[in-house]
Amino acid sequence: MTSPQSATQGTAQIGVVGMAVMGSNLARNFASKGHTVAIYNRSPEKTRAVIQEHGHEGNFVPAETIEEFVASLERPRKAVIMVQAGAATDAVISQLVEAMDEGDIIIDGGNALFTDTIRREHEVAQTGRHFVGAGISGGEEGALHGPSIMPGGPAATWETLGPLLESISAKVDGEPCVTHIGPDGAGHFVKMVHNGIEYADMQVIGEAYHLLRYGAGLEPAAISAIFSEWNEGDLDSYLIEITAEVLRQVDARTGKPFIDVIVDAAGQKGTGRWTVKEALDLGVPTTGIGEAVFARALSSALAQREAAQRIGLPSGDLTTLAELGIDREQFVEDVRRALYASKLVAYAQGFDEINAGSQEYGWGIKPGDLARIWRGGCIIRAKFLNRITEAYERDPELPSLLLDPYFKGELANGLIDAWRRVVITATQLGLPVPVFASSLSYYDSLRAERLPAALIQGQRDFFGAHTYRRVDMEGTFHTAWSGDREELSY
Ligand code: 6PG
Repeated sequence: MTSPQSATQGTAQIGVVGMAVMGSNLARNFASKGHTVAIYNRSPEKTRAVIQEHGHEGNFVPAETIEEFVASLERPRKAVIMVQAGAATDAVISQLVEAMDEGDIIIDGGNALFTDTIRREHEVAQTGRHFVGAGISGGEEGALHGPSIMPGGPAATWETLGPLLESISAKVDGEPCVTHIGPDGAGHFVKMVHNGIEYADMQVIGEAYHLLRYGAGLEPAAISAIFSEWNEGDLDSYLIEITAEVLRQVDARTGKPFIDVIVDAAGQKGTGRWTVKEALDLGVPTTGIGEAVFARALSSALAQREAAQRIGLPSGDLTTLAELGIDREQFVEDVRRALYASKLVAYAQGFDEINAGSQEYGWGIKPGDLARIWRGGCIIRAKFLNRITEAYERDPELPSLLLDPYFKGELANGLIDAWRRVVITATQLGLPVPVFASSLSYYDSLRAERLPAALIQGQRDFFGAHTYRRVDMEGTFHTAWSGDREELSY
């Protein structure tokens, strides 16, 4: 145990800057694994509070200035920044660069935009220090008991950081949920897409809940029990588990189901949006993630939603499960399958984006490694990830997760038919299922032999001479639409 008085120069194996809950929990995690941990926060009260409350948990070296903090680190010094992404991160980086020496390593553990990480890595490298952007997932509990960690940065830093990060990460089947993802921004890119998948995963769970509640007419407590049951099978995951918890909760003030007292406007800090923006730039159709981000935006468009309630929008003829002659139990099972299928599409699209990003930025990311380190610690951890790991082990060049024999088999054995039924029924009931429905359209587009894109090419050529290619010969063509409609080849 170390008290502030016994702080020694150069004894801490790792340091953490930023003592908000994520930073302090990460520092406590390091300390619990036997590391001596230097801690620093801009306002020293927070550092003192951590020592007061948790100082007995391990060896902490509290510092009141950044210079003192840096001096307390063993060489090469290693400091993890856990402050707000953006300007605060840049400010801490320049302080650390100033106080550190060549060969020291600065790790940004926040949810930074990967392009910022690329810039920072470049700037810090010029000073001879190293910069590692590391995605850390798992929320407050994960930070304390074992997160999934996605470090980027120079490969050489992994030799120093690897054992430290492995010691604090989650473990699945004895394997640590951390690996070097790739150079510069690779780690933060992958964390960004992880969060995008998290958005889609949360939205499909939300859509399933909504159908069971307002389609099947089940109460939250009953739906909670259904989610708990689902958590025993293919859908076994952290997000399904906490969904059952949230739905089971009763509001202490009113005695109502807790879910009914929460304003139905979802917030977002930006990582889902970044995933979609980047997907647009890369030309990767991450429709599930996109619909999930838009669904949050629509839920938060309160003025429009209030106006729609006030003025009213025609619904057309709606029906009920009973009128449709659909058995409730069958519907519940269909919804489970639709959830599973839509989730599969979201993961397939997320991995497509990671592969495209890796190619674009030259990162050499191995998708199978990601599935492996996402099996534990992170928010999207799920039994399902084992299957994805196996899929990439079978074929590291898999063109789409949907084409893996295991997942193809799952889709064929009952998922697709249930998925179609659910999308049809939801439409007849007038209940929104943006990710279920768009994922099914994506799936049908992917398997279609012909797409209406031929018509779009024809239209583009008609109004803008944008040219087209033919199915039966090489070359580029244009039809003289406003003239004699002769076909010209280029
Ligand atoms: C995690 C989480 C974490 C956080 C995000 C998402 O992996 O531990 O993704 O990073 O919850 O900030 O938050 P929003 O839903 O507010 O975008």
